[in-house]
Amino acid sequence: MITPVKEILERARKGGYAVGAFNTVNLETTRAIVEAALEMGSPVIIQMTEKTMEYGGGRGMYQLVKNDAEFYAPSIPIGIHLDHGHSFEIVERAAEIGYNSVMYDGSRKSFEDNLETTKKITQFCHDKEISVQAELGSVPYLGEVNVGEIDWDKYMTDPVQAEKFVAETEIDSLAVAIGNAHGFVKERSEPDYERLEKINQAVNIPLILHGASDWENGRVSEVIKRGITCFNVDTALRLAFVNNLIKSVREQENVSFDVRKLLGDAREAVKKTVKEKIKIFGSEGKA
Ligand code: G3H
Ligand code: 13P
Ligand code: ZN
Repeated sequence: MITPVKEILERARKGGYAVGAFNTVNLETTRAIVEAALEMGSPVIIQMTEKTMEYGGGRGMYQLVKNDAEFYAPSIPIGIHLDHGHSFEIVERAAEIGYNSVMYDGSRKSFEDNLETTKKITQFCHDKEISVQAELGSVPYLGEVNVGEIDWDKYMTDPVQAEKFVAETEIDSLAVAIGNAHGFVKERSEPDYERLEKINQAVNIPLILHGASDWENGRVSEVIKRGITCFNVDTALRLAFVNNLIKSVREQENVSFDVRKLLGDAREAVKKTVKEKIKIFGSEGKA
């Protein structure tokens, strides 16, 4: 059942658990997420980046997710979301296609520019009943920095700025930087829990954690206690998919040319990973 992301996040926040926002890139990943959600009785968010929209077609990918969700898991709340939109144009395009939730990522701009553009985008989206996530501070990416030498202070969300940013932009959720990084990297030895608590006290909206695909259970539950309502998961799914594919090809003496068998097995590996994440986030049985 396609459900507004805002509603899924608000329910999770009230219920004291978190949901997964899983990145899809194709049919196999989409079906894996939908089936995992159904089997776990869990609400989920399925999201796409601009690159995925280019790869699969923005409209095509949207219709794929919508159709799979409605047909295979009609009883499960499933939100569809644009992840890391970097411009007004991509948000307009998502709105035209039918997405009811978008992220505008102005995290690499100055505070003032990020605030100004996010505010304009929020006004545009709220008129169309589309909810908006923005990012303050910045979550680094594997490859762009040498994580061993990273100056985390440069990336962190400032709680005082967060209060002003949320009040002026009227966004619906906020992606925070507390020592997290995109990809499987050796992150900050401990997330900045104190900072997260301060952000949570300063703003009264769901907080989103990007780049925590590789976080172990202990850390996950500590940040849920301090206001994290949603975890974005991409790398863990890509790794499950690709590793399974490599293994299948290597293990076969005569490689099967039945693409459905190869991709079907990879899909099962992704589904297993999604189910593990749902368990850790605490959203099992919350549909
Ligand atoms: O944070 C989002 C993704 O991990 C980056 O994905 O390669 O589809 O832009 P992308
Ligand atoms: P990972 O790549 O670490 O899974 O992070 C995903 C993410 O933040 C997508 O927005
Ligand atoms: Zn992200």
